[in-house]
Amino acid sequence: MAIMPKEFATGFFRMSGRRGAEGPSRRAFVGSAVALAACQPAARGQPAGRSLPPLRAVAPFPVGSAIQAEQIDDPDLAALIAAQVSQVTPEWQMKMEYIVGEGGALRFDAPDRIASFAAAKGLRLHGHTLIWYAQTPAAFEALDSQPGPFRDAYANYITTVVGRYRGRAASWDVVNEAVAEDGAGLRDSLWSRRLGAIEHMRLAYELAHAADPVAILFLNDYNLEYLPAKRACFLRLAETLLKAGAPLGGLGTQTHVGLDLPAGAIAAGLSDLASLGLPLHISEMDVSTARFHRLFSSSAELAARQGAVYAEAAKAMAGLPAAQRYALTLWGLRDRDSWRVRENRADTPLLFDDLGRAKPALADFEAALSR
Ligand code: G3I
Repeated sequence: MAIMPKEFATGFFRMSGRRGAEGPSRRAFVGSAVALAACQPAARGQPAGRSLPPLRAVAPFPVGSAIQAEQIDDPDLAALIAAQVSQVTPEWQMKMEYIVGEGGALRFDAPDRIASFAAAKGLRLHGHTLIWYAQTPAAFEALDSQPGPFRDAYANYITTVVGRYRGRAASWDVVNEAVAEDGAGLRDSLWSRRLGAIEHMRLAYELAHAADPVAILFLNDYNLEYLPAKRACFLRLAETLLKAGAPLGGLGTQTHVGLDLPAGAIAAGLSDLASLGLPLHISEMDVSTARFHRLFSSSAELAARQGAVYAEAAKAMAGLPAAQRYALTLWGLRDRDSWRVRENRADTPLLFDDLGRAKPALADFEAALSR
């Protein structure tokens, strides 16, 4: 049953143990203490006979990984994450699609588990994502015709979520993918239609900052390496938000790329993004190999190209002024865990194979940092 708009809009967020199950309850969540299996030896992630130092030990910047709450229960993956990276980003469970349920009921069990895991392992937590054109829950859609309650609900959501992780999330993707696919302007969304193309974003940053004045607030987008026009529009948006007084504190370039990406595109893109002087986050990197096999005469040649793409990103991030090296986040560590593999089983986009063993690209990534 949909919540009465005024209840929802006045910030009466109901937190229930299960989405829409036994109706509203204000039962507080106790972030479950994550009893982690004893970490496996770090060598578990490496092929027999050859061990590479962990990514977090060789990179002159934080290396991160996407994570899902269920993965905490996989001792091999939990150990690989803890051994290899120093930051985690919830892959989907800190988004509206997970948190907002029927009638505006909120659930935080999974993001709380991730936050507890990060704290237990000493990992920095990057919140992802507050406002995204792609996720507009029915509870918000139902308020579409009422600007006052809609704005209140929008404000209450951002304040509730950022406030919940105050002191635990070091940073947030406040707005995700606001630039149009082709870079010719900004996306239309429920948020822009109800609250204004720029105002909905300015307001989001203002609210997030008020809820956690210490967190670094990012603007995040994709294909900024492939499309200079989109990158230019992204930079103009960032400047517009800064001029509007938004406490924008960093720029995220997702870097979901493939083996077709021209050499130098990542370096050129990062250099361009660095022009505003803000911290930069390669926020969701993977290098898809599916669909590109015909470009290469052998799997070794394909693996070498994948390694070169990762190496370019590592070198570009390392080449930034220290204050601008926010992090390089991999959108997963093992191929089997990648969203791309869920879409195409033949893809091998990440640095570790299905068993958590280093792939050649890991050696290339690390070698780029030692040259
Ligand atoms: O785990 C549940 C499973 O229990 C359930 O049976 C199944 C069907 O409902 O859903 C599973 O959850 C899915 C989750 O991925 C884990 O696979 C969610 O439905 C699905 O929406 C979610 O997709 C995520 C997607 O963003 C949308 O949130 C992907 O994992 C995630 O990789 C992807 O990440 C995005 C970034 O946020 C933004 N940039 C692009 C990137 C790739 O699309």
